[in-house]
Amino acid sequence: MKQRTGKQTLHNTSAFVVALFIAVILVVLPAGAQENSSGASVYKSKCVTCHGQDGGGTAMGKTLQVADLRSPAVQSKSDAELIQFVSDGKNNMPGFKGDLTDDEIHAVVTFVRTLAAKGDSQKK
Ligand code: HEC
Repeated sequence: MKQRTGKQTLHNTSAFVVALFIAVILVVLPAGAQENSSGASVYKSKCVTCHGQDGGGTAMGKTLQVADLRSPAVQSKSDAELIQFVSDGKNNMPGFKGDLTDDEIHAVVTFVRTLAAKGDSQKK
């Protein structure tokens, strides 16, 4: 009798440890991922409203004649041009000079480069 109760307690303890372990992973992993891709998080907080998740442009972006960030017209520009563009803005596109640091602008331009590969619709 006593032994069975002991086993039961041990079993519950390891289940608890496993649950705790999973909880820690769930909390720690997304935080780490965000840190590694600050360009992506800048994009999400500052650019998605007009440019959309995939860079193709939201309905609101389209009324402002947003550029398709996946397009060769944008992707063929140099990093320096895109950095200057994001800093100073152009037509309906606001400049982010005062809002983002140089590092953040650099990171978000690097992120814009990843949209081209993802948006390669040729294969679909
Ligand atoms: C208020 C809406 C809006 C927001 C927010 C916005 N954009 Fe734009 N973006 C535009 C519009 C409109 C254009 C097209 C401008 C033009 O060429 O007339 C554009 C164009 C661009 C281009 C193409 C430039 C070129 O000429 O090739 C890039 C790159 C770009 N945006 C990056 C960003 C990034 C990065 C962010 C976030 C930091 C951002 N945009 C936030 C509206 C926006």
